[in-house]
Amino acid sequence: MTHKVAVVPGDGIGPEVIAQAVRVLEAARAPIELKTFDWGAERWLKDGTTLPDGAFEDLRDNFRAILFGALGDPRVPEQVHARDILLGLRFRLDLYINLRPVRLLDERLTPLKGKTCKDIDLLVFRENTEGLYAGVGGNFKKGTPDEVAINEDLNTRKGVERILRAAFEAARGRRKKLCMSDKANALTFAHGLWQRTWKEVAKEYPDVETSHLYVDVAAMEMVRAPERFDVLVTSNMFGDILTDLGAAIVGGLGLAASGNIHPGRCSLFEPVHGSAPDIAGKGVANPLGAISSAAMMCTHLGEHAVAARIDQAVARAVVEKQVTRDLGGTLTTVQCGAWVADAVAR
Ligand code: NAD
Ligand code: IPM
Ligand code: MN
Repeated sequence: MTHKVAVVPGDGIGPEVIAQAVRVLEAARAPIELKTFDWGAERWLKDGTTLPDGAFEDLRDNFRAILFGALGDPRVPEQVHARDILLGLRFRLDLYINLRPVRLLDERLTPLKGKTCKDIDLLVFRENTEGLYAGVGGNFKKGTPDEVAINEDLNTRKGVERILRAAFEAARGRRKKLCMSDKANALTFAHGLWQRTWKEVAKEYPDVETSHLYVDVAAMEMVRAPERFDVLVTSNMFGDILTDLGAAIVGGLGLAASGNIHPGRCSLFEPVHGSAPDIAGKGVANPLGAISSAAMMCTHLGEHAVAARIDQAVARAVVEKQVTRDLGGTLTTVQCGAWVADAVAR
């Protein structure tokens, strides 16, 4: 059986890194049938299309996964295309888990003194369908000195409970430690809900050791003592911020992978980084985040052996310094992708 996968390379370095991820999937002989879509800034500039009519239904009904590059282009006002396409798909496909592993593959890559690969191996569960990202709010007297601007932090019992449960389940399959991070001391209504739900759900997982950190302390602890963390669960906005921090302690954004997941449904896999306009077109973007995201996609598709082979090849590339300049190597994007593809095929 082959899995139908939609590929959305997007903007900037998106197409550069996705080309390498696709090449690695092909080298791994993953049983996947790919279909590429041209959604992104160029398309928007050409005909004003963000997510075309019917695209969402097509993805939902006919594809098992989406391999996504990045969206973001200085020529598009307010990044309307990114909001419609990326956030649109997260919300409309109800991809409530944003899964972002933070794993150190080589001691030389962490800026944290004395930390080893054993110390930095955590899994972040970022809520992905609500919170400050829900788009609830508006402007009043926009553009005047009296302007009012509001984005509401929308949290639902259902939304909070399902991300907490997903994180508990994952902790069960790992070192059985789960930390929840919020800002309930200041956001008493919204994060009070997180606190209450957390305490209730935790009762069902007595085998999982739980802890709670306010997000400011969580940020500090990820730097000071990352070994404290096994699984970390948090809200949409805090997860966004903490996972860039997480990327920084394991070698940088170029390595970081993610899955936007609704178990059993069409889910979207993408590197954590954006379109990186500062390096786009130069052939120097690190493709390993995109390649690792493709491996996460294979796991979602049930292709565990393929996922493991890709993960091993990425780890080898890092240890053997077959990497781009952001990781201290000398390879181009294409050369790095070729090396990993070769390692996977061997
Ligand atoms: P960015 O992630 O694009 O870049 C941040 C820094 O990291 C830059 O210096 C960049 O050169 C570097 N970097 C990123 N990816 C790299 C890689 N693979 N290899 C080497 N270096 C890499 O973040 P930004 O500059 O804040 O955002 C640029 C655009 O991308 C914005 O429009 C933003 O909204 C968008 N964005 C999109 C996504 C997404 O599509 N998922 C994610 C983040 C940002
Ligand atoms: C990410 C990105 C997005 C987010 C942006 C592009 C809306 O930063 O995937 O981490 O904030 O979720
Ligand atoms: Mn981000």
